[in-house]
Amino acid sequence: MAGNTWIIANWKSNKNIAEALDWVSKVGPQIPKNENLKVVVCPTFTCLEEVKKAITVSNFPLMVGSQDLSPYSEGSYTGEEAGRILKDVIELSLLGHSERRKNFGETDEMVSNKVKQALDNNIIPLVCVQDENVSVPEGCKLVAYEPVWAIGSGTPDTPENDQQIAQVLKSKYGDIEVLCGGSVNSGNIKSFVSQPDISGALIGGASLNADEFIKILKEL
Ligand code: PGA
Repeated sequence: MAGNTWIIANWKSNKNIAEALDWVSKVGPQIPKNENLKVVVCPTFTCLEEVKKAITVSNFPLMVGSQDLSPYSEGSYTGEEAGRILKDVIELSLLGHSERRKNFGETDEMVSNKVKQALDNNIIPLVCVQDENVSVPEGCKLVAYEPVWAIGSGTPDTPENDQQIAQVLKSKYGDIEVLCGGSVNSGNIKSFVSQPDISGALIGGASLNADEFIKILKEL
């Protein structure tokens, strides 16, 4: 494994605390200890603290991420989770996912403000782009390319196309790591991470089942 490989579980709006802890107890012991392998779980806000505790107690090589973060600092923003508060429990934040852009009116400007809040609080921003023309905010070094049609459809983009988009993004933004996403599972993960410019994957549906997620890790 040359360079980092990021395997990121995006649970979306799934799993309560008991289900989240069950997953952690099954997956945690199966994660190979390798400093270049960065495995991250992104639960719902409700589960973050319990998941973080369970990982810490067992010393699993698993990072915790949020699926969003406030574009503002702390203050009068009802319903928002500010970076300074979140940083107690997360190391990474998933920003600008297409489901947020589509269902919650998230704009490039909001994503850029979220990235700034993440960076101000030492949280790694992972920005999702739906194609090579979506802008990557300044300071963001981790990007996931996820074409909307590939998400949850069972039809991933081809590894070759992902590789090409990763090259375009790297030529535009320089020193970044590019992940792929959209219907990635244990059957196709290898074909993606074997591409020279793909540094891992953002995984939704296939990350929910502990056994399937462990299979993905075993394929690396
Ligand atoms: P999927 O979702 O793996 O279920 O396609 C990926 C994502 O939306 O991040």
